[in-house]
Order: sequence, then C-alpha cells, then structure tokens
Amino acid sequence: MTYTPKILAFAGSTRRDSYNKKLVKVAAQGARSAGAEVTFLDLRDLPLPLYDEDLEAEQGIPQNALKLKELMMDHQGFLIASPEYNSSLSAVLKNAIDWASRPASPDEPMLACFSYKVAAIMSASPGGIGGMRGLVHLRSLLGNIKVIVLPDQVAVPKVHEAFNADGTMKDPQQQASIEKLGENVARMLSKLNG
Ligand SMILES: Cc1cc2nc3c(=O)[nH]c(=O)nc-3n(C[C@H](O)[C@H](O)[C@H](O)COP(=O)(O)O)c2cc1C
Repeated sequence: MTYTPKILAFAGSTRRDSYNKKLVKVAAQGARSAGAEVTFLDLRDLPLPLYDEDLEAEQGIPQNALKLKELMMDHQGFLIASPEYNSSLSAVLKNAIDWASRPASPDEPMLACFSYKVAAIMSASPGGIGGMRGLVHLRSLLGNIKVIVLPDQVAVPKVHEAFNADGTMKDPQQQASIEKLGENVARMLSKLNG
C-alpha cells in the first residue's frame, strides 16, 4: 500500500487578504505535486479566545480549539506561513499553538498534536527582510514542542509586489523555492513512513 503524506497548511494571520495565506497556498501546491494530500486551514474560520488558564479550568477547551487539535492530529506535516509582528510571530499563531498544546483529556500524550510532526516555515512581509526575524522565534518554539522543522525556509520581502492576481508569484524562482518547501515536507514524510 502506498503512503500518502497528509499535510496541514495554515498561516498566522486571520486577515482576509493575508499575504501569508497566499504564500502557504503556493507551498501547498508544491506538496500536492509531490503526492501529498494537503488541507488548507484558515484560522479565521476557527476563532479562539486568548488562552487563559482560568477559562480552561472553568469551561474546558473551546470547541474551535478541539477542532484545531483534531485537524492537527489527523496530519503528519505542517506548512506554516507566519507574519512578522514586532520582529516575532503573530499573536494569532502563538495563541493557536498554545491552545493546541493543551491536552484534551488526561490520557492524551504530551504535545500530541506536535510531537515528531514535520514542518516547513515561511513568511511574507511588505518590509525589506520578509519577516525573517519572526521565523527565528517560530523555529525555536516549534523545536521546543518537538516539531521537526526542516532547514530550508523562505522569507518573501516586498510581498505587496510579489503575487499575480491568480495567486502565483511574479518571480518564477521565488515560486519554485516556495513550492519546494511543500515538496520537502511531502518527501521527508514519505521517507519516514515509506
Ligand atoms: C502590530 C504589527 C506589527 C508589525 N510588525 C512587523 C515587523 O516587525 N516586521 C515586518 O516586516 N512587518 C511588520 N508588520 C507588517 C506586516 O508584515 C504586514 O501587516 C503583513 O501584511 C501581515 O501579514 P498578512 O498579510 O499575512 O496578514 C506589522 C504589522 C502589525 C499590524
């Protein structure tokens, strides 16, 4: 039986016209071309309260956080595009990770959504360095929760000039380098599970 990698693609932005959502969709295309099944998740569709331990103790894990956890559990790979906010990852992304890191039941293993998943990270910004400083923090955080983050990453500067109307990138080399991120995750998962 052949193995089909399952990859969840999402961005740390809920903005309707988010450049990072566009970016992660390009990487998703690369993963699909390499044989993966990719689910795109728009975090706007799963609004979450700011993580609060009292809220969790009193009301449990919110339904949308449980849905996020289920989606993560069901995929072995992640493609994550993170906007850079004040030189770090966005609060939207950090909050989603914080909720997903909470066990839904006492017998759920620690960090079950994240442990030994394979990820590629990327960022896009209208600024000159493409959000690269945020990726340093994101890589460190994901590593600490046992995600295997692949070494290649891409930061797209001046992103407001980067996309065609159909969602592809104007620069074919940039398009290829981002598709490659998705391909890398698909191929690594196939090596690990083949
Ligand atoms: C609170 C805030 C902080 C920001 N800080 C940075 C930053 O440190 N570096 C950067 O390149 N862009 C920064 N930006 C600009 C974002 O890169 C830009 O809004 C981008 O389009 C957000 O990603 P999105 O298009 O996926 O929503 C910041 C924007 C906001 C609202």
